[in-house]
Amino acid sequence: MNLTRSLIRVRRRSAFLASVFAALAALLLTPTALAQQSLPSIEQLVNEPFLDDYYSNVVYGYQIVNDTQHFASRYVGNALNCKNCHLNSGTKADALPLNVAGMYPKWRAKNGKRNGIGLRIRECFVYSMDGIMPPDDAPEVLAIAAYVTYLSQGEVMGAEPEGRGVPTLPATGYDPNPANGRAVYLEQCASCHGEQGGGVGDMPPVWGMNSYNRGAGMNRIDEAAGFIWANMPLGQDKSLTHQQAFDVAAYLNLQYRPADPRQSKFLKLLEDLLP
Ligand code: HEC
Ligand code: HEC
Repeated sequence: MNLTRSLIRVRRRSAFLASVFAALAALLLTPTALAQQSLPSIEQLVNEPFLDDYYSNVVYGYQIVNDTQHFASRYVGNALNCKNCHLNSGTKADALPLNVAGMYPKWRAKNGKRNGIGLRIRECFVYSMDGIMPPDDAPEVLAIAAYVTYLSQGEVMGAEPEGRGVPTLPATGYDPNPANGRAVYLEQCASCHGEQGGGVGDMPPVWGMNSYNRGAGMNRIDEAAGFIWANMPLGQDKSLTHQQAFDVAAYLNLQYRPADPRQSKFLKLLEDLLP
């Protein structure tokens, strides 16, 4: 009797010990998998009533990226939201994903200096959002930076995340043809973006004074072609030929939109007037 009882006890104990060992082994063997598991999803965070400083900034950054018009309106000059180009709130590969904290600081030809993630964010306000540059310690910039850091968890610092930016389309051997691009636009894009480019309903404008300006990355034909090929028409990724993507990008590029603020006549006038 006594013997069987203690045997059972020993067995129980060894079963217990075995499960402890298994848990420890899991901890030791899969640190990244575990870290990712314990990372709360953005939906969880949004519904959480109390958040620490870091996570409340992450949530605020997420809200700005989705609804820039509402949450960062004082720095915005057009009708766009960050997520209109950084699709799925900055989580879609080949659609300018925002999991890029590990890529900064980085030298940037556009402004000829080393850019931290803060400056990179502020520049999208100036060009893509045709707005004004927020100060580097603006709460909006800090919050977006926290969201970018959150999205970057699990990436290798300094290494290019997969699907960064947009795909670089190979040269087709033909120049981009805006006349063909107009036909593609009317057939495949106008139903959502409007014949006049202003956007139907709450669809985002692709040209006009409510769109991105001439200094924006999307104003470059190769950048726009890569984005359009990989992501448009919405829901039909990669259905256009490369040539159609170049053509329609060239058509968008011909339409009117706000000027590049670096070439503003007013600034030039000031430069001339000031000693
Ligand atoms: C009209 C489209 C568009 C909108 C709107 C837009 N961006 Fe961008 N963004 C781009 C393009 C295109 C690039 C990459 C090309 C470049 O570097 O010029 C980019 C790059 C970035 C990068 C760097 C990504 C990397 O791979 O290093 C960050 C960060 C960023 N944007 C943040 C924002 C934020 C924050 C907003 C909203 C306030 C915003 N963007 C709005 C088009 C847009
Ligand atoms: C079914 C509707 C739909 C169609 C068709 C469509 N788009 Fe879009 N497009 C969208 C939406 C919606 C967004 C913003 C995505 C978001 O916020 O999640 C977008 C974003 C864009 C953007 C970046 C944001 C901006 O406004 O500049 C460009 C450029 C663009 N589309 C070009 C095109 C082109 C070119 C075509 C045709 C080949 C096309 N789209 C077809 C719905 C559509």
